[in-house]
Amino acid sequence: MVHAEDRGATGSNSENRGQISFKEDVRPILQIRCLECHSGNGQGVVESGLNLESYESLMRGTRFGPIVIPGNAMVSNLNVLVEGRAGIRMPHNRKRLTSCETTILHDWVNQGARNN
Ligand code: HEC
Repeated sequence: MVHAEDRGATGSNSENRGQISFKEDVRPILQIRCLECHSGNGQGVVESGLNLESYESLMRGTRFGPIVIPGNAMVSNLNVLVEGRAGIRMPHNRKRLTSCETTILHDWVNQGARNN
């Protein structure tokens, strides 16, 4: 059986770091660090349309399109922004995520961005 993480996403070495769970690993990071602005009528929702309250709304992305490309963290805007690879960085005007947190988000996307 071939799992998503075996498909060899760009530059990924996530297969050595174990399975990431959306509910147990990813969601708590979004809740603590992002929902302040990316839920309800928060500033991030108003300005970009991105709501991070649920898996479905995360996968819907901004009003310009998806921020998660399953299997490819290198091009997923979610990862580009929290890893500081773009002109703007998230969380906006807040302390940046720890490398542990960005690694969790990176591996989750490379493992297929599943609602697991
Ligand atoms: C203090 C408020 C604030 C917090 C906290 C915050 N954001 Fe944002 N976010 C914004 C605002 C405002 C925008 C729209 C303005 C912009 O695009 O520069 C935005 C836009 C975005 C975008 C879309 C950018 C684009 O390409 O259009 C993404 C993706 C994003 N945020 C992800 C996150 C993630 C992931 C977190 C948590 C790790 C987070 N944000 C935390 C305020 C915030």
